[in-house]
Amino acid sequence: MIAYKGDVLYTPTPDHFEVMEDGYVLVGDDGKVVATAGSLSALPVKESEFTVIDRSGSLIIPGFNDLHIHAPQYPLAGLGFDYELLPWLEKYTFKAEAKYADIDMADHWYRRFVTKLWQVGTLRFSAFATLHNEATLRLMQLCQESGLKPVIGKVNMDRNSPDYLVEDTDASLAGTERLIQQSRKLTPDVGFIITPRFVPSTTPELMEGLGELAQRYGLPVQSHLDENRNEIAWVHELHPDIPTYTEVYEHYGLMPFDRTIMAHCVWLTDRERAILKDHGVWLTHCAQSNMDLTSGIMPVRRNLDYGLKVSIASDVAGSHEPDMNRHIVMAIEASKAKTFEAGHEHDRPLRLPEAFHMATKAGGSFFGKVGSFEPGYDFDALVITEDESPLDLSPEERLERFIYTGDDRGIAERYISGRLIPKPFQQ
Ligand code: GUN
Ligand code: FE
Repeated sequence: MIAYKGDVLYTPTPDHFEVMEDGYVLVGDDGKVVATAGSLSALPVKESEFTVIDRSGSLIIPGFNDLHIHAPQYPLAGLGFDYELLPWLEKYTFKAEAKYADIDMADHWYRRFVTKLWQVGTLRFSAFATLHNEATLRLMQLCQESGLKPVIGKVNMDRNSPDYLVEDTDASLAGTERLIQQSRKLTPDVGFIITPRFVPSTTPELMEGLGELAQRYGLPVQSHLDENRNEIAWVHELHPDIPTYTEVYEHYGLMPFDRTIMAHCVWLTDRERAILKDHGVWLTHCAQSNMDLTSGIMPVRRNLDYGLKVSIASDVAGSHEPDMNRHIVMAIEASKAKTFEAGHEHDRPLRLPEAFHMATKAGGSFFGKVGSFEPGYDFDALVITEDESPLDLSPEERLERFIYTGDDRGIAERYISGRLIPKPFQQ
């Protein structure tokens, strides 16, 4: 066993940080947390049974988990934000994704993407790839090689898409099933997730077929929901007989219980909230993307009070940077903007421990016991070294300063399931 020593912070619940200054996280040989304690003598095993790795003076926190990111869009980050979602897709996104038909291009940029996520401390994530089978398998293999543990989906899209980025329905389903089987053999630590792009780009036949695949192989599903008002109006035109956008996914079997991620959810109705709650869906709050693409501001407090699972996610390149500490900040700032609109009693802003919980334990729960240091959790951790300060700061204040002003230069080490993860690829 190993006991990691440092200033330990995590959020078992959203309302406060558990803080152990000069504390310990004891990790078993299986990479899972055995106990945390404020002193060596308070650990539940004898000193002869573990080695101490001393990171005194550094913060030890859970790794970040990003439940919504587009891997092929990484080179596009920071472009096209004078447009809203639908013209942005047409003018920028589809063209960028079409380039991943070239496997050498895909290999180069996916290496850069994986390395960047490692740098910024995103240890687990759920990514959209593109519709290309070969490039998607390559991304999964690169992740497997890196030691990161994401789930990844080949994007399905067979309607309302440009002719250079559209699939035949049967070929899309057959290609997806082939990838599911290949990845089971080749990438044991990288899961497959069924990924219809969004309702406007998937025919009813394709949605139905993907729902069947999800059920047959016991796979999770991810897509986009209620992001932009023009998008929502379009979904109503395409499916006039189904009352809400949410119910389109439900109708086609694309909401497996406790295995579904829906990105954005900015414009939900209460009817949709009830359905999402029933299905145990993870909502991803992509506050920076929703600002960049002028989509809106999720009423995050209302969704949390309703009992929905809400995590913080990046949605690169709907947003301009993958760093989860920046997305924590943006989620807090967006919730403050919402407060001005809605009145403090109704939409209280997010507090730091809540937002940190949403970026660690709430997202991590999709992967099992991940995102906290409670006993039984995977030891997924970041060791943070900070700039000196003339102020006498508590560990909590030092973490706050890192979240607001820090970047990857402050992340000294990354552990996944108790294993130190080296830089994946050199560029
Ligand atoms: N809706 C459909 N495709 C996309 C995409 O690539 N990004 C975002 N943010 N929303 C989408
Ligand atoms: Fe997205």
